[in-house]
Amino acid sequence: MNREELLAELNRFYNLELFQVDLYSKQSKTVDDIMLANTLERFAEVEEQHVDNIGNTIKDLGGKPAVITEFLAPIGGKVFGEMSRLPGLATMLKINIWLEDDAMTNYMQLILKVSKDQELAKMLWHNLVDEDSHKTWFSKQLQGITPKSH
Ligand SMILES: [Fe+2]
Ligand SMILES: [Fe+2]
Repeated sequence: MNREELLAELNRFYNLELFQVDLYSKQSKTVDDIMLANTLERFAEVEEQHVDNIGNTIKDLGGKPAVITEFLAPIGGKVFGEMSRLPGLATMLKINIWLEDDAMTNYMQLILKVSKDQELAKMLWHNLVDEDSHKTWFSKQLQGITPKSH
C-alpha cells in the first residue's frame, strides 16, 4: 500500500470514528437507563480518542484529515433509517454491535496491510481492542433485554 492509499484508508477510518462519536453522544442523551447513558458517553470519549489518534497519524504522514460527506451519508442513512423504522433499545444495540463489528473487520484488514509499520499497527490494534470491548458490552446488554427462547 503506498502513502496515498494509506492516507485515503485512514481518512475513511477517521470518518467512521467521527460518526461513532456523534452517534454515541446523541444516544447517550436519549436513553433513560443511567448506566447505559454513562457507558455511551464514555464510549463516545473513547471514539474521540480514535478520531485523534487517526487524525494525528494522517497529519504525521503529511495528509489532512477531512470529512467526506458522500462517505458518511449512506451509513448515516442506514443507521438513522433503521432507528426510526424500528425504534427501541434492541434496535439501537443491534446497530451499535453492527458498527463495532464492521469497525473491527476494517481495522483487522488494515493491520494485515501495514504490519511492517509497527507503530501504526500498534495504534490500530489498540483501537480494535476498544471496539471489541464496546461490541461485547453492547452484546451483553442486548442479551439482557432479549427474551430467552426455550
Ligand atoms: Fe473507534
Ligand atoms: Fe467503538
